[in-house]
Amino acid sequence: MAAYLLLFTLQLLFGLIRPSLLQNISADLISVSPGANITLLCNITNYSQKSWYQMISAGLRQIISARQSSLNKHFYVDYNVDESHFYLTESSSSVSLVIIGVRETDLGFYYCGGRNDETHIQFGKLIRLNFTGQ
Ligand SMILES: *[C@@H]1O[C@H](CO)[C@@H](O)[C@H](O)[C@H]1NC(C)=O
Ligand SMILES: *[C@@H]1O[C@H](CO)[C@@H](O)[C@H](O)[C@H]1NC(C)=O
Ligand SMILES: *[C@@H]1O[C@H](CO)[C@@H](O)[C@H](O)[C@H]1NC(C)=O
Ligand SMILES: *[C@@H]1O[C@H](CO)[C@@H](O)[C@H](O)[C@H]1NC(C)=O
Ligand SMILES: *[C@@H]1O[C@H](CO)[C@@H](O)[C@H](O)[C@H]1NC(C)=O
Repeated sequence: MAAYLLLFTLQLLFGLIRPSLLQNISADLISVSPGANITLLCNITNYSQKSWYQMISAGLRQIISARQSSLNKHFYVDYNVDESHFYLTESSSSVSLVIIGVRETDLGFYYCGGRNDETHIQFGKLIRLNFTGQ
């Protein structure tokens, strides 16, 4: 079921966000110096599962995902593509993505997604990460 949902999510995303459409989708530009740490805010709340995705030329990759505990309401990471490079912080009932030491391969488009145990999925606003001065 989880695999099916992930596949569905990816199909949905590829269907919705084709590169040709990107130029017309408003994205928040975040500029960062090479090697700095940066925090990307997710404006999706009220979902017990949260994920962050990066759009790269080869497609889409999931960076990190977390699940909210029904007991203490904290989010616990259940997937992280690179623990030495990414982590999550909780802020105002959502989860922000922290990138440690931003490098060239980190540049591009990011967004977060939220899902409850039902199949409803919502995505946050698009963030464009680029180096300062470019
Ligand atoms: C993007 O916006 C431009 C100007 O507003 C419009 O001409 C063009 O058709 C739009 N492209 C897409 C893919 O929506
Ligand atoms: C970036 O974050 C890492 C891990 O939290 C920390 O060790 C490092 O000092 C931070 N670097 C800067 C420039 O803040
Ligand atoms: C997130 O921000 C975008 C752009 O400002 C807005 O359109 C969207 O409604 C926001 N989503 C939520 C859940 O606040
Ligand atoms: C989130 O849930 C709270 C409490 O259930 C509700 O008051 C609030 O409007 C919800 N926010 C969104 C963005 O759905
Ligand atoms: C970063 O800025 C450069 C120079 O303006 C631009 O060519 C490039 O497309 C930008 N990258 C992203 C991911 O926005």
